[in-house]
Amino acid sequence: MKSIVLIPAAGSGRRMGTTTSKQYLELQGKPLLAHTIALFDQHPQVEAIYPIVPADDREYCQREILDRYQFKSVRRLIAGGSERQDSVRNGLAALIEDGYNQPRRPILIHDGARPLFNTDLLAALLKSIDANGACIMAVPAKDTIKQVIQGQIVDSPSRDQLWQAQTPQGFHFEILDKAFHLQASDEGPSTDDAALVAAAGYAVQVLAGEDRNIKITTPADLLIAAALLDSYQEKSA
Ligand code: CTP
Ligand code: MG
Repeated sequence: MKSIVLIPAAGSGRRMGTTTSKQYLELQGKPLLAHTIALFDQHPQVEAIYPIVPADDREYCQREILDRYQFKSVRRLIAGGSERQDSVRNGLAALIEDGYNQPRRPILIHDGARPLFNTDLLAALLKSIDANGACIMAVPAKDTIKQVIQGQIVDSPSRDQLWQAQTPQGFHFEILDKAFHLQASDEGPSTDDAALVAAAGYAVQVLAGEDRNIKITTPADLLIAAALLDSYQEKSA
């Protein structure tokens, strides 16, 4: 069964600090979100793509992204919510409406702000989702990570066991759906979907990804992404 891709892109990009939300900033003359959608469009293992955007930006996204780039697999734009997980929840509701809720249907969730994922890794990710029900891309932490409270170190976890979560993160529909239903109301919002799925008691596999799959968060990330894109295009030219 082919996968469905939810692309949460309904944030405001506060840390980027630009007046234009970061998902619309251009890289090589093309909006970041269009780069991200293009990664999955027409991939042989992708059935449908749902970009999730701020409710007030739907017309803008229709015009500047969907009409302009004519993606083949985008079903429709979904309005996001105030937290990332609200946005994903809205995406989940949409794919249920459209009948993509078979229990073992692979649902991939990929940040709109990660335009550099290497889709050569998708087949391995989908294979693990098929076998295990839940798998995410991640890379081993390069820096030493500290837990800091009020400016002071309270913990220095051993770097050997620390990984940085990336997306795509993929789950069988029934697992993702159950995790969203079971979500404890007293929990703060999680910044990734694997946290919800793990909290619901499921084992989540981790597949080693690539450093290039950065999340564009600050202005420095945009410069790095531009340089990476240039270098890949030179290689393929
Ligand atoms: N996202 C979303 N809905 C939200 C918040 C975030 O769909 N309510 C999306 C973002 O658009 C982004 C991805 O989730 O593609 C990862 O979030 P993040 O990098 O934190 O983006 P922003 O929330 O936009 O940035 P910031 O936290 O700096 O405001
Ligand atoms: Mg955010």
